[in-house]
Amino acid sequence: MKETGAGIDGYTAERLKGIGVRGLDIAGMGGTSFSAVEMYRASMIGDDSLAEMGNTFFDWGIPAPAALAECRASRLPLIASGGILDGTHVAAAVSMGAEAAGVAHAVLREATESADAVKKKLMLFREELQAAMMLTGSANIKQLAKARHFVAGETREWIEGLKWTQKSI
Ligand SMILES: Cc1cc2nc3c(=O)[nH]c(=O)nc-3n(C[C@H](O)[C@H](O)[C@H](O)COP(=O)(O)O)c2cc1C
Repeated sequence: MKETGAGIDGYTAERLKGIGVRGLDIAGMGGTSFSAVEMYRASMIGDDSLAEMGNTFFDWGIPAPAALAECRASRLPLIASGGILDGTHVAAAVSMGAEAAGVAHAVLREATESADAVKKKLMLFREELQAAMMLTGSANIKQLAKARHFVAGETREWIEGLKWTQKSI
């Protein structure tokens, strides 16, 4: 099951697991926003009200790292996406519980050029991921998954805030 840029919370992850879902692409807020896509589409066809609504919900959702932190407890295999822009983001996602990462926006420009351009960008991701693994002393992905990571600022507030709201469900 995947989101499309608004993230999945822990409560939803548990419910999805309960109905037989076997893995999640958390597709958090912070990258491509489908409210934004709808806003631009509405503007193009002159639907001002729909465009305004798209603008209101432009940044609706749970940021990708907070969605990962939320869904980790479900023990479902997780794919991190939503704002993954380079290999260090992939490394951070793995250290926060993702088994893989997904990208759309980061390769969109390349995708309009050629398949080779996309491949080149993804190879750069791989090199950046390998560098991040070297810098964290991680010999393989399993070790990277256990690497210490520090969450600061607004993302930390999101994670703590969501934990607090879990108690009220
Ligand atoms: C041009 C474009 C088309 C997309 N089409 C779909 C789609 O048809 N179905 C879907 O589930 N997600 C779709 N997505 C969302 C991505 O699969 C993904 O969840 C999200 O965009 C990842 O974030 P990122 O763009 O910041 O890397 C699309 C994204 C883009 C940019």
